[in-house]
Amino acid sequence: HERTFVMVKPDGVQRGLVGDIVARFEERGLKLVGGKFMRIDRDLAEEHYGEHEDKPFFDDLVSFITSGPVFAMVWEGQDAVAQVRTMMGETDPAESAPGTIRGDFGLDLGRNVIHGSDTEEGSAEREIDLFFAADELLDYERVDETWLYE
Ligand code: GTP
Ligand code: MG
Repeated sequence: HERTFVMVKPDGVQRGLVGDIVARFEERGLKLVGGKFMRIDRDLAEEHYGEHEDKPFFDDLVSFITSGPVFAMVWEGQDAVAQVRTMMGETDPAESAPGTIRGDFGLDLGRNVIHGSDTEEGSAEREIDLFFAADELLDYERVDETWLYE
């Protein structure tokens, strides 16, 4: 099964949404294989969002993501990368459907509550390696796995 990197951003932590967001992925059937409550430093932020370094919003994005603690996670499951993106909604909460995380919890593009790896080849692996050491990711079976998958 596939793994993806997910992070509750500083706004989500401050607004008390960590538990709700974790619950959504758990209930969906995705398996938590890593989790870390942490503060991102400037170097890590610039590396993580390197693809956006030439965009006009880059400085604000780095300031925001380093402005308070985040909850970083790795979730595993069938098509985990795409499933998490679907559950997140669109980049802009204003365009996100109700029922999605951004559509339920956000209003503003620059405060969109959650990050999840995009579906581009290699993105999830790159982000997982950036945030987690190999021994921080746990291999185990969830008791409901035979009921989740055919
Ligand atoms: P992430 O999961 O955070 O990577 O969001 P995403 O993959 O849905 O969007 P993308 O990678 O394109 O952009 C990264 C982040 O930059 C977004 O989550 C937004 O918070 C912010 N962002 C993207 N586009 C804009 C923009 O046009 N203006 C502003 N102010 N912020 C933007
Ligand atoms: Mg992105």
